[in-house]
Amino acid sequence: MLQEQTERWSKAYTHMTRMAYPAEYVIRMFRGNYPRLNLCDKGYEGKSILDIGCGDGRHLCFFDSIGFSKVCGTEISQEIVDTTKKRMDELGIDTDIRVGVNNALGFEDSSFDYLLSWNVCYYLDDEMDFSSHVKEYARVLKKDGIMVFSIPFKDCFVYKDGIEKDGFMTITNDWFGTRNGSVQKIFQDEADIEKEFGTYFKDFVFGTITDDCFGLDYRWYIGYCRKK
Ligand SMILES: C[S@@+](CC[C@H](N)C(=O)[O-])C[C@H]1O[C@@H](n2cnc3c(N)ncnc32)[C@H](O)[C@@H]1O
Repeated sequence: MLQEQTERWSKAYTHMTRMAYPAEYVIRMFRGNYPRLNLCDKGYEGKSILDIGCGDGRHLCFFDSIGFSKVCGTEISQEIVDTTKKRMDELGIDTDIRVGVNNALGFEDSSFDYLLSWNVCYYLDDEMDFSSHVKEYARVLKKDGIMVFSIPFKDCFVYKDGIEKDGFMTITNDWFGTRNGSVQKIFQDEADIEKEFGTYFKDFVFGTITDDCFGLDYRWYIGYCRKK
């Protein structure tokens, strides 16, 4: 793990005084009924979910509120895990949050019915090997388990002025100032996402977020797939 990146995220989360709201599209995907998507038709009672890179815990609260029986998370440093766990405990939400990264999640095999990787799966440590993330995601999911994701388009504002090479992007002009110098896996299109995840996942369903948010081009692939 790049020490500098870990310190930046740890600082960001431990200095946060309030938790953010859940992302609108996470709410829509888990609660809504759309022509190509209806995850909530059977309810979430008895089901487990792991929120990879759970940050301040905003989605852990949401998952608890919609009835998941087991709500877990990972974060990249013990400091973030402790801060988020304390916040969940204060809210009376039972969670299991562990230190983990995309290619080493720290939970047992076949533990979960659902994974959420909301703006997380493409973060690399020093390994430059995305296939290890896919394999690790599949390892902790049960067979037929569902992986919900969001992944930026190549021309999303987070990559403005970035340097692209061989399927990776070096960030140079991060609006939030936390990721400059870091390298992320990027995807050319939906077919590329399917190809990269395809060894272990099937039944891809895609939506997109494209939004001019007052000068920031929000452009994300969102969707889910199922473990083979
Ligand atoms: C854009 S934030 C998203 C946080 C959270 N999913 C949310 O929606 O609020 C990216 C998160 O990925 C985590 N992260 C950074 N590098 C990672 C890695 N190699 N493996 C897993 N998580 C990582 C960061 O600590 C951070 O919480």
